[in-house]
Amino acid sequence: MNRRQFIQSAGLTAAATTVAACGREPPERPAGAPVGPFGRESTAEDVTRGMDLSGRTALVTGANSGLGFETARVLALRGATVICAARTEEKARGVCESLGENTTPSVFDLADWDSIVGAADLIRASGTPIDMLICNAGIMELPELEQVYGLERQFVVNHLGHFILVNQLLPQVLAAPQGRVVMVSSGQATRNAPPEGIQFDNLSGEKGYTPAGGYGQSKLANALCSLELSRRLQDQAATSNAIRPGVIPTNLGRHMPAWKTFALKNLGGSFTKTLGEGAATQVYVATAPALAQTSGYFFEDCNPIIAGGFTEDREMASRLWRVSEELTADYLPKAPAAAA
Ligand SMILES: NC(=O)c1ccc[n+]([C@@H]2O[C@H](COP(=O)([O-])OP(=O)(O)OC[C@H]3O[C@@H](n4cnc5c(N)ncnc54)[C@H](OP(=O)(O)O)[C@@H]3O)[C@@H](O)[C@H]2O)c1
Repeated sequence: MNRRQFIQSAGLTAAATTVAACGREPPERPAGAPVGPFGRESTAEDVTRGMDLSGRTALVTGANSGLGFETARVLALRGATVICAARTEEKARGVCESLGENTTPSVFDLADWDSIVGAADLIRASGTPIDMLICNAGIMELPELEQVYGLERQFVVNHLGHFILVNQLLPQVLAAPQGRVVMVSSGQATRNAPPEGIQFDNLSGEKGYTPAGGYGQSKLANALCSLELSRRLQDQAATSNAIRPGVIPTNLGRHMPAWKTFALKNLGGSFTKTLGEGAATQVYVATAPALAQTSGYFFEDCNPIIAGGFTEDREMASRLWRVSEELTADYLPKAPAAAA
């Protein structure tokens, strides 16, 4: 059995798909979105080289680990003020201490919606416009069904928590000269989402749950949420785009069986990305001057792609927004900033 056969037989679907993609033609590009000079091997530092982001503010969720940490680090390196969001005071302060002066901690748990509202209140009270709202935090493939607020946990953390955050902070994003929302989705949004897309009749997971299906659905929700937000922002200077970072060994794999983690670490070198490469696309989409009017796209390797699946299904996106509003109604601002 060769390396590729092993990876495929090991069930590392994301990795295997990436292997299969190596050497293929460039992906299909949507019409209208600018294609830039960066690609798979560009790093977050590469895509921001020479940029001065001083005077701009970014909020990064999941800033204490993996791609979020690298994103916060590079934005701060280029002079942005970075609000580093993490689940605990210790983690949020820890990342700020390691990144230096231009950082502010923000503490909330995406599975505790009161904590999101509380943190958003503090940020709004500061009056700071948010130029970049990077919805990066996430969890993957919980082995067993877990529920919060009666809903499947990955959908709650990865999608609904960020949905509340975005709605709470939209006035700050709109107050920036050209605010940008970046939703960190995944290749699993197409590979592992349920065949019918979002399972609106099974958001609790009780009619059936698989770890990969739950993760795929939540990442499809990230893509659709960005798509609908871009529609709602169409008359504004603010934009919203989704991205998928590639395959990067981080703490995200903490729920994967040990043998899968071992295989990724030891056999994945040729198709996994470094942290710098993995964070490049979200940092590029958040900062590139060429993307000031680019909204509603899905990016991979620093360029827009047609990701397929349901990622461009506008009807599903509108329905998801409406259902998300109903599910989180008690935690949304009374006067929504994004018109229907
Ligand atoms: N790595 C990849 O190959 C890959 C591929 C595709 C997409 N992505 C996406 O990239 C994003 C970042 O992932 P990563 O690889 O950097 O993983 P990571 O190292 O595990 O970082 C995830 C971050 O999310 C935070 N988080 C988890 N649950 C949270 C909650 N309830 N409330 C607030 N924050 C929470 C984590 O905080 P704690 O440290 O406190 O747990 C951590 O800071 C995720 O959205 C993931 O789906 C990653």
